[in-house]
Parts: sequence; structure tokens; C-alpha cells
Amino acid sequence: MRKWLWVLGMALGLSALAQTGKLEIFSWWAGDEGPALEALIRLYKQKYPGVEVINATVTGGAGVNAKAVLKTRMLGGDPPDTFQVHAGMELIGTWVVANRMEDLTSLFRQEGWLQAFPKGLIDLISYKGGIWSVPVNIHRSNVMWYIPAKLREWGVNPPRTWAEFLATCETLKRKGLQAPLALGENWTQQHLWESVALAMLGAEGWNNLWNGKLKFTDPKAVAVWETFGKVLDCANRDAAGLSWQQAVDRVVQGQAAFNIMGDWAAGYMATTLKLRPGTDFAWAPSPGTQGIFMMLSDSFGLPKGAKNRQNALNWLRLVGSKEGQDTFNPLKGSIAARLDSDPAKYNAYGQAAMRDWKSNRIVGSLVHGAVAPESFMSQFGTVMEIFLQTKSPQAAANAAQAIADQVGLGR
Ligand code: GAL
Repeated sequence: MRKWLWVLGMALGLSALAQTGKLEIFSWWAGDEGPALEALIRLYKQKYPGVEVINATVTGGAGVNAKAVLKTRMLGGDPPDTFQVHAGMELIGTWVVANRMEDLTSLFRQEGWLQAFPKGLIDLISYKGGIWSVPVNIHRSNVMWYIPAKLREWGVNPPRTWAEFLATCETLKRKGLQAPLALGENWTQQHLWESVALAMLGAEGWNNLWNGKLKFTDPKAVAVWETFGKVLDCANRDAAGLSWQQAVDRVVQGQAAFNIMGDWAAGYMATTLKLRPGTDFAWAPSPGTQGIFMMLSDSFGLPKGAKNRQNALNWLRLVGSKEGQDTFNPLKGSIAARLDSDPAKYNAYGQAAMRDWKSNRIVGSLVHGAVAPESFMSQFGTVMEIFLQTKSPQAAANAAQAIADQVGLGR
């Protein structure tokens, strides 16, 4: 069969048909967050029918488990052919500085990607004269999700500031809703924290945390934990045991009013749960962050020593193509990273995100790899635990600053 395809491919002069062998794609897009990746893989198989694709996923939102497995494989000399990694410090500060990735600059030139992607995004994936991964999307971190019909029933509006949020929370509690805010496991708590921090520090202050100009122990940054603590009082007590999807489910089922989550929640509600954006579910910037788009970008890279390098390069070509991005992103809840994507392929949420991406002030996400090195990020979960145990803003701030000093944040 393979040989036949090869002969056919050569006869037609179609090198794509002649590709054989395997391609292992590593990511955390498993189960009910898998449809977008699966659609992209189907497209790859149409183009390269002779290649056997291994969709190697490790379940766990935000890559909490996948990143550890990837580390073992990379350090053990057994890299997948390509893997999901966040654009920014997560990519650069780990695999690029360790000299484990191939420079993709020539691929970017061949494919015309230096013009196709926004300059700011190319900067995020560049380091020491090289370009190190191919962005497949732009996700937004600072979004609040709700069900309009439920809010009408409870007689409340989506809050625009955290003060309003806390007041709305009290109203809802009086109406019998025990936990108006649905929250999940540790990383989703960090995710909530970054929205609170952005609101309280503003875009400038947020950026200053990562360039070292604003210390975590500065009273303004300590105050973030104070508000965060009050917000946590609105959330469910069993958060530690819930995945991000289960937290979204609580809102969908009317057990909670709000969830703060990245816009993969839109993908989950529209694609997996088949809810209509704008009617069945709705969104707003997380309180106090109107006009600011906290971005992150999923990308794929080419590790040195990939066993199926050519197949991986073809995968990267598809990931960075207009066709690939407009196949993946409408299902994922994200928007294309490319500038020439077709808005007509996106639902109401995607189109709104595209408008905001163009008009808002852009900052990067901590939890999803854009602004701080993995060495900081991976220890921020401990800061969260310290806060949950002590409920002390100062203790959390001191712990965060100690890690910042240790990893040389901003230096
Ligand atoms: C993010 C990732 C998203 C989504 C989310 C939940 O880190 O960028 O694409 O997968 O985790 O798992």
C-alpha cells in the first residue's frame, strides 16, 4: 500500500502523496478539548495519506501533566516529532536555551510567515537570531463566562469591576446560590489570580511585574492578594478537585453564575456542549480589564533529534497555513495567529475576540507561558498553596518575590 502510494505520488509529481512513515504529535488536547486538534490531524491525513499520525495526548488542563512527561522524554533523548508549547518564555526559557530545538527561520521565510504573523508574536518566539516555533492560535485569558438566561432569572448583570463582582456575589448568595463563582484546580486559581492582578495593576503594572520594575512585595501587588482572597470567598469549596471543564459545567448547569477562564471555554461550550455563543452562553472581559487583551499562543516546535523530521516539517507548514488555522481555531475557541484569517469561518465569540485583538491593549499571560520563565511559573502553584493555607497576602507576596529573585525575573 505504502509503496503503491509512493509510486503514485512520484508519477503525479506530488511529493505529499509520497510521504510515508510516522508523525508523533504531542499535546494536552485530549478528550473533550481534542476536537480542534483532531480536525487539523484529519486535514494532515488528507494531504499526506501515507503517514501514520500518532496523536499523543496527556490529559490535564494547561499542560499540568503533559509538560512533565515532555520533560522526561526530551531529557531522555526521546523527543516527540513535534509538541505543543506556549509562545514566549515557556518555549524560550526551557527548550530553546537548552539548545533542544531547531531554528525555523528558513521555514518562516519559505512560507512567507514573516509577513503573515503579527510582529509582536514573532518577537515572542524569537531568541538570539532564531525563530523557534509555529503559532497556531491566539487565546485570551481574561474572560468571564455566564449564561444570560440564568443572570436574568437571578436579576443580576455581568459585573464590570471586582467591587461590583463582590456585591453581585453577595446578592446571589442571598438568593441561595452558595458559590456564585465556579473555580477548579490549582492552575485555574492562578488563572483567576492573573485576571485580578491585571485589573488591579493595569497593563503597565502587570508588565512591570515581569520586567522587575514592580516587586511582588510592593503594597500595590500585595493588595492584589487581598482582593483575590475576597473573590475566593465567592467560589466553591471543592475547587481543588475540579477540572476547568467541570468548573464551566457548574455555570452551564446553573450551580454557579460566573467562571473566569481562557477562551478555550468558548470552544468547549460551542464545540463540545453545542451551546450557541451570544445566546446560550455569553462573556465579558474579566472585571476591571475592559480594553485589555491578555493573550497567549499555542505553538508547535521541532525538537532536535525528531525521528520523523520531514513529516514534522509538513505538520508545521499546515499549522502555520491559513487553511490549517481556519480549520483549527473556529473549533478551539481561539482566533488565528495569522493576519489573513477569514472571520466568516468563526462564530460570534470568535468574531468578537478578533475585534478585541485588533483594538485592545495586548499583554501576555503568566499561567500560559507568555511572560515569565517556566522556572517562575512552575513554582507559582506553590505560592498559591501558601496563600490558600495562610490566607495571608503578605506571605504569598513574599513567597512570589523570593522566587522572582531566585530565577532572576526581569534581569
Ligand atoms: C492552555 C492552552 C489552551 C488550552 C488550555 C486548557 O494552556 O493554551 O489551548 O488547552 O490550556 O487546557
